[in-house]
Formats: sequence, C-alpha cells, structure tokens
Amino acid sequence: LWTTANIIDENIRTVREKVGSDEVILGLSGGVDSSVVAALLHKAIGTQLTCVFVDTGLLRYREGDQVMAMFAEHMGVKVIRVDAEERFLAALAGVTDPEKKRKIIGGLFIDIFDEESSKLTSAKWLAQGTIYPDVIESAGAKTGKAHLIKSHHNVGGLPENMKMGLVEPLRELFKDEVRVMGVELGLPPEMVYRHPFPGPGLGVRILGEVKKEYADLLRLADHIFIEELRKHDLYDKTSQAFAVFLPVKSVGVTGDGRRYDYVIALRAVETIDFMTARWAHLPYELLDLLSRRIINEIRGVSRVVYDISGKPPATIEWE
Ligand code: XMP
Repeated sequence: LWTTANIIDENIRTVREKVGSDEVILGLSGGVDSSVVAALLHKAIGTQLTCVFVDTGLLRYREGDQVMAMFAEHMGVKVIRVDAEERFLAALAGVTDPEKKRKIIGGLFIDIFDEESSKLTSAKWLAQGTIYPDVIESAGAKTGKAHLIKSHHNVGGLPENMKMGLVEPLRELFKDEVRVMGVELGLPPEMVYRHPFPGPGLGVRILGEVKKEYADLLRLADHIFIEELRKHDLYDKTSQAFAVFLPVKSVGVTGDGRRYDYVIALRAVETIDFMTARWAHLPYELLDLLSRRIINEIRGVSRVVYDISGKPPATIEWE
C-alpha cells in the first residue's frame, strides 16, 4: 500500500542499504526539498548526516536563525552554518545586471559549499533534494541543483581521490508528495507549504545593486507583508507573495517634515504552474493597511506600490 508512511519507511531502508555506515553531506537551503531530505536522512542515519547551510545574507527576515532553530536545536540535526553575508555583498558590489547577479550568487554559493564539504573529508555521499520535475525538465538549471551536481563531479573542490556518490531520495516524487512527506516527518506545515523562494534570494528582489541597507529594509517590508497575509488568512490562497526593493527615492511628508526615501513594491500572484500567473486581487483594506504599516514602521521607505502585472507579459520576479 502506497501510504506516505510506507514511502518513508521504504526510503529509509534504501538509504541505509546504500550508505551503510558512511557519512553523508547535504546542502540545506531552508527550502522545502532540502528540508524534507534533511528530516528524512536524519531519521534514517542520524549523526551520519552533516548539513551545510550557507547563509548568503540574502535570505528573508530571521530565516537563517529559523533554519538553525528548527534543524539544529529542535531536531538535533548536525548543521554547519556558514555566515557568508559579507562575501556575497562584496562579490555583488557595483553589479547591477540581473543575469550577472544570478551568476555571481550561484557561483559563490557553490564555491562556499565546496569549501565546507571538502573539510568533511570522511563524507562519502552527497545528498540532494532533487525532485521528479528537476529530473525531467531542465528546471534543474533554474533551481541550481543541476549545477551543484556538476560542480561536485567535474570541477568541485573535493579531493581528487574522493568520489562522492549521490543520494537523492526525492527523485521520484512530485512537489505535493514531498510536502505530504515533510509533514509526516514532523516538519511544521507553515514551513512545508511556504511560497517558493528563488535560489538567488533577495539578490533578485533588490533591483540593481545589492546593498546591506537595501536588504535590511526589504526584509522588514517583506515580513510585514507575509505576516498580514497570514493574519488575514490569505497566505495559502496566494501562490507567491513578496516585497521588492526599488532603489529610487520618492518625496513624502511626515508631520512637519519632508522625507525623501525609497519605494517598496508588493507582488502577489495566483498561479497553478508559475508559467502564467494573474496578480492577486487583494482587498483594498489590506493593501491600505500594508502601505501604512510599511511606511510608518520602516525608516527609509516613503512609498508603497502594488504590482498589477500579469504573467505574461511580466515575469513573477522583477529581475
Ligand atoms: P518568473 O520570475 O520567471 O518566476 O516568472 C517563476 C518562478 O520561478 C522562481 N524563480 C527562480 N527560482 N532561481 C530559482 O530557484 C531563480 O533564479 C529564479 N527566478 C525566478 C520565481 O520565484 C517563481 O516562483
């Protein structure tokens, strides 16, 4: 019988047979797929699993701490957190072209992951959250998973004589099956049913040059947006929602003074497949509340706009 519990048991057996008493490395991103792999492997092989979590500084509000709280503190998974914010910001300084930004972020991510994993000399296996759509489509190219495999097999920083085998327990599963599995494994539903978040993170939601000041403002605005959507029971009714930082200044007034501050755009979409999408018709009252909260609570923001572009012609992300 193909119940989720049976699929998990079967997977655990397979992983144990495959890796025996060897050590396994997993790149934990905080996304659904790698989180479910972490929970599954932790159950299967316990302390033989070491996760490497690269904090790029381009994650959402308190996301890095949440990943550590969940996996390291709560579940007792071995997680190495690499605080790489400064390296990412340095690599991105002065870069405005979206594709260049993507390449820099993806490349540095792999370099850092390779550096860390090559320190774990006893690890013989690399686990990845590859899911079925990654296998059949070239979608892997977009998620960066295909790239990660390549880097390890061809040009990775691992010692020549050490060949790592791949462990990909979600390879035959669709996203919805992965989610059900995650909940069954004890991951919180809010984590498992989170909206998608792009690999380059806030790097492609800060238009143009990425700066820490911008990332900090954006994190606060995005957090307010998501918090209110959840409060209004609209989070699960939208497919993806987020704030975007626009590096343009706009004039505003507060009491007796003028301010000249940045603009935040809010984007929320409804979609089945993310290939086409319609902008979410959020209630005006909510948009009003969001704009007030963001402008009042975040110093440095003087204006909020709502994105009413469909895909096509607009993409979901702004870069
Ligand atoms: P677009 O902007 O192309 O986005 O309409 C479609 C979906 O893909 C996500 N996205 C990315 N995911 N790396 C990713 O892992 C990326 O570079 C990237 N760009 C867009 C986007 O968030 C949306 O869910």
